[in-house]
Amino acid sequence: MGNKNRSNFGSRVGIILASAGSAVGLGNIWRFPFEAGNHGGATFIIVYIICILLLGLPVMIAEFIIGRSALANTARAFQKLAPRTAWKWVGRIAVLTGCLILGYYAVVAGWTLEYTMQAVLNNFDGKQSEHFIQSFNTFSTNSWRPIIWLFVFLLGTHFIIVKGVEKGIERASKILMPALFILLVALVICSVSLPGSEKGVEFLLKPNLSKVNGNLILAAMGQAFFSLSLGMGCLCTYASYFGAKTNLTQTALSVGVIDTFVAILAGLMIFPAAFAVGIQPDAGPSLIFITLPNVFQQAFGSYPIIAYISSLLFYVLLALAALTSTISLHEVVTAYLHEEFNFSRGKAAKVVTFVCLTIGLFSSLSLGALKNITLGGLNLFEGLDFLTAKIMLPLVGMFTAIFVGWYLDKKISWSQLTNNNSIKAPLFKVVLFLLKFVAPLGIALIFIHELGLLNI
Ligand code: PHE
Repeated sequence: MGNKNRSNFGSRVGIILASAGSAVGLGNIWRFPFEAGNHGGATFIIVYIICILLLGLPVMIAEFIIGRSALANTARAFQKLAPRTAWKWVGRIAVLTGCLILGYYAVVAGWTLEYTMQAVLNNFDGKQSEHFIQSFNTFSTNSWRPIIWLFVFLLGTHFIIVKGVEKGIERASKILMPALFILLVALVICSVSLPGSEKGVEFLLKPNLSKVNGNLILAAMGQAFFSLSLGMGCLCTYASYFGAKTNLTQTALSVGVIDTFVAILAGLMIFPAAFAVGIQPDAGPSLIFITLPNVFQQAFGSYPIIAYISSLLFYVLLALAALTSTISLHEVVTAYLHEEFNFSRGKAAKVVTFVCLTIGLFSSLSLGALKNITLGGLNLFEGLDFLTAKIMLPLVGMFTAIFVGWYLDKKISWSQLTNNNSIKAPLFKVVLFLLKFVAPLGIALIFIHELGLLNI
């Protein structure tokens, strides 16, 4: 496909919101709280922020440089910038990772639809926390319901992808992101004003640095890559739709700040409420589906109409935040098939939807009917999450850093960050240093440590 007729985002705000729309999703509101809850709250958050600054942001800038200079899908981008080398495999693995993530991510996205429907039907009304625990377990282990919602969710994603970049992705993100933000702030206020919520605030804000260990660092690094949508070519693909005037460093900083802010807001929304109603912070993937409906009931018990509206709004917005992320995951693989195999966009999208539906089907069943099939103690759903977030994303991220830090001609990076010498890039040297040394060594050390080869 020629670059001239490549589609583009229409505006600067659109670019930031679409990239932030990819970054902000279930990773912030569903995954971040349960990872933080499993690893001690505040301590995890500090290590997480360090990972964002030293590993995440530089790798995001590297993906932007690769995408906008190559103007192609991720696999082709590496191939174009490093012809006849093995670098293309980094791009290909990135695309594969996208497909695997979409497979289980869409399952959780489907859960948000079930909860939206429960909210519409006012089924949370008057219930206690035991009910929420029980109904989540019954629903998520059911063989049919989650799969129907998975199907609906993937169809919605499919529809927007087929509409294309500007009309579909950009327009959706411009409305959804600000709405989500406002609602989150309102919910944080409700959550911290519940009686007994102080312990949750303390859990989030009082670190205990003696708790830092290899497991926590691996989890924080994985979460940083997952949450920023890095290491699977997503932001690289989006950057290929950026305009020539987009300031890459500023865009990366904006996305990083928005994403981290939303994650912390989500933590502030969930933990005070969880402590207030006596739910353990390490409840795992079920955390938001159990805690949140409870908050609405407890906080607004005497104003049922407010409880109704806020729970409905929350799940609708959560579904929409997930949608802007599934769109970006889907787009990576669709762009790849479209450009590499000459499939029409429609046909490429159909293949992706079908493959992800199949993966999703098995990962959903692995929580119920197929839960006895495990590998290393993990079922398929947990295994996909572990393999992609904790291994593949950081690994592709590490190679992306090495690629831009060591392989790619510095002139290309300079002209990308300065838009051909038309804007300043005061952070150029810092970014390059982080990409050359800090990110690759940092990621490698965390891996080596986790494999048990290094004991610190
Ligand atoms: N960043 C998204 C989230 O936080 C998930 C995602 C991961 C999207 C990787 C695209 C690529 O929900």
